[in-house]
Amino acid sequence: MIGGTKASIARICFLLTFLGTACSQSISDPTYNPDEVSTNLGEVESRENGPDLEFRYHDHDQMTRYLRSVSARYPALTALYSIGKSVQGRDLWVMVVSASPYEHMIGKPDVKYVGNIHGNEAVGRELILHLIQYLVTSYDTDPYIKWLLDNTRIHLMPSMNPDGFAISKEGQCDNTYGRHNARRYDLNRNFPDFFKANTKQPQPETEAIKEWISKIQFVLSGSLHGGALVASYPFDNTPSARICRSSVLCSVFQSYAHTPSIAPDDDVFRHLSLVYSNNHAKMSRGVSCKQGSPKFDKGITNGAAWYPLTGGMQDYNYLWHGCMEITLEISCCKYPPAHELPKYWQDNKQSLIKYLAEAHRGAHGFVMDENGNPVERAAIKVKGRDVTYHTTKYGEFWRILLPGTYRIDVSGEGYLPQEVEFIVIDSHPTLLNITLHSAKGYISKAVGVPSGTSLKTTSLPTATTSPVQDGAIVFPED
Ligand SMILES: *[C@@H]1O[C@H](CO)[C@@H](O)[C@H](O)[C@H]1NC(C)=O
Ligand SMILES: [Zn+2]
Repeated sequence: MIGGTKASIARICFLLTFLGTACSQSISDPTYNPDEVSTNLGEVESRENGPDLEFRYHDHDQMTRYLRSVSARYPALTALYSIGKSVQGRDLWVMVVSASPYEHMIGKPDVKYVGNIHGNEAVGRELILHLIQYLVTSYDTDPYIKWLLDNTRIHLMPSMNPDGFAISKEGQCDNTYGRHNARRYDLNRNFPDFFKANTKQPQPETEAIKEWISKIQFVLSGSLHGGALVASYPFDNTPSARICRSSVLCSVFQSYAHTPSIAPDDDVFRHLSLVYSNNHAKMSRGVSCKQGSPKFDKGITNGAAWYPLTGGMQDYNYLWHGCMEITLEISCCKYPPAHELPKYWQDNKQSLIKYLAEAHRGAHGFVMDENGNPVERAAIKVKGRDVTYHTTKYGEFWRILLPGTYRIDVSGEGYLPQEVEFIVIDSHPTLLNITLHSAKGYISKAVGVPSGTSLKTTSLPTATTSPVQDGAIVFPED
């Protein structure tokens, strides 16, 4: 899965330093020279408020300068890293915004946004830059943002497809020029697929993402797109329909079938999508972008019910890494004129922030052995939800769940499996510490449910209360 070149090893090490892992390989990313940061500062930094960010499109160099100047200006709140390079050698930048930008906070979630996976869908790219600006400048004055950054590491990738963006044209609303990477691959069809074999050659941008999300346990994610106004949730792909006999007919049938492909966490995905659409200025109205294009009830849709696709990023995040990702289509026009950007920022600002806070919903905790040591890669499975999450090397896990009573099965190699019942309430996450007992010596004994499970809820500021209180979510018809 991971290319073995020297360059990519250097990149892994670069990334690992952000995870607090020792790395003997020297870091030699020629394009990331920390000394350059200060020399670039004068050009873009205004005297009082830090780096300026205008409402206009930023090409790759301008974006790079902006990100560097923010990281120089806000060293305690930001860290800039590159997860790799595009086909044409452009860095795939990620800015972490958090009270702990350089180190994972044990027990606290990491979340992300990825923008511009389709190079000509440009609004998300700029909104992520504005989100960075907003977060760093609000930390001292807005208690909600302070709480969010104190308790979350937010990884923001403005552009996953900088090469496609470089050839895209402002004002182009509907065409596909610039959508693909420089080798003409659609990056949102380039991931391994659970339902169907994906024979597309993996691209460097996709490989970089795969490596990144295998290194950091992201809890929640959004992928920003344009060309529609809807929050679309897994699954994007669907098992082959049995009535299909020829593959041509099959794909024709499936493209027009509009059959939802229901994920085990369908209720949670619908909720997350509603958080985005309900906090958006107009997404939840579900008005179609233009005549003939679909309307989306409440501004959300199951991905496959809209149209099925193979090799998408959101299904991969969820099924491979237990990261709940949805696809956010935030502009009817893929690359609108720059003067419309302030409106897009106003429309999406609240959604972008409230959505990330949803990482704090549900249950989280640690799986430990009898000596209190973390159990890595313990399998966590909520009964009735056929998807397995795994603990991190610190034994951490997160499971976003709506209010209710749940049972989970926890198992680890060499340990007795354990079943734990717990409740989730609306306003606070449930903390679950689970102790697994060694399987040794238990073979001939009668096994009861081992004790040592602690269950309690922690208090968070009232600002974390969910913006969506509506428990009666109706499945979209479209
Ligand atoms: C849960 O486990 C973590 C990690 O060992 C520990 O820091 C925390 O204090 C524990 N909390 C409770 C309530 O047991
Ligand atoms: Zn797109």
